[in-house]
Amino acid sequence: MQIIKTIKEMQSLSRRLRVEGKTIGFAPTMGALHEGHLSLVRRSKEENDITVVSIFVNPAQFGPNEDFQKYPRSAEDDLQKLSTLHADAVFMPDNNEMYPEGFSTSINIGAIGEILCGVSRPGHFNGVATIVARLFNTVMPDRAYFGRKDFQQTAVIKKLVRELNFDTDIIVCPTVREPDGLAMSSRNAYLNMEERKSSLILYMALKLGEELILSRGMHDASTVKKEMATLIKTEPLVDIDYIDIVNPRNLDPVQKIMLPAAICLAVKIGNTRLIDNIIVEKS
Ligand code: PAF
Repeated sequence: MQIIKTIKEMQSLSRRLRVEGKTIGFAPTMGALHEGHLSLVRRSKEENDITVVSIFVNPAQFGPNEDFQKYPRSAEDDLQKLSTLHADAVFMPDNNEMYPEGFSTSINIGAIGEILCGVSRPGHFNGVATIVARLFNTVMPDRAYFGRKDFQQTAVIKKLVRELNFDTDIIVCPTVREPDGLAMSSRNAYLNMEERKSSLILYMALKLGEELILSRGMHDASTVKKEMATLIKTEPLVDIDYIDIVNPRNLDPVQKIMLPAAICLAVKIGNTRLIDNIIVEKS
């Protein structure tokens, strides 16, 4: 497994692979790898000749009062996991490589980045779009793999790729959950035992929403959201940021639910912000 630290080196490897006719699959990450990330790597290995993983905690997607400094970093452990999966290359640039002095370009992804998580994380999705564009221009992947847990992020990246003509297919992979239903996330590591217990309410609320729509035929989004909020509020440690039901294609909020629909939510448990979603489809 090759470890690559510079853009120049990564670009020259990708160029050589492309000339050789090899397909490149890419899983961009911020490290602290868990089964969710590893599922992206496995999928990429199945579908491409070469799999590249990036590890870079991107400061531009963290707000001033967010957890950039304390975001979990575990490079050695990550590399061990990736080598067990036989990833071909890991791109691990430092901050100076991705944001050299004087760097000032920023992609404004527009309104899609200002709804849902964008309300309490202004600028976050512009930071994501900017780094992903830079990573795509460095790795030049045929396919890039993202987890559905970050549903809004996947919509932002698809828009970025469409509007800036990146020659990369975006593959959205299923959310990987702990056995009790909690969606895997590097931020789960922040939860103490009590918070971890209360976090189960997220998936329970999503499953309730799904049941209200599919089994009880509810179509009114506000009623479904209200029932979900009532359930979540039974956990005193959990503060709701938002619960929304949107059209999965463009993230437009819906009043009257048509399928497929995406139920998205974000909560705070103590200082930890967690997100999750479920796509409700005709069975
Ligand atoms: O999902 C993540 O880990 C990050 O947002 C990404 C896509 C690697 C960009 O920094």
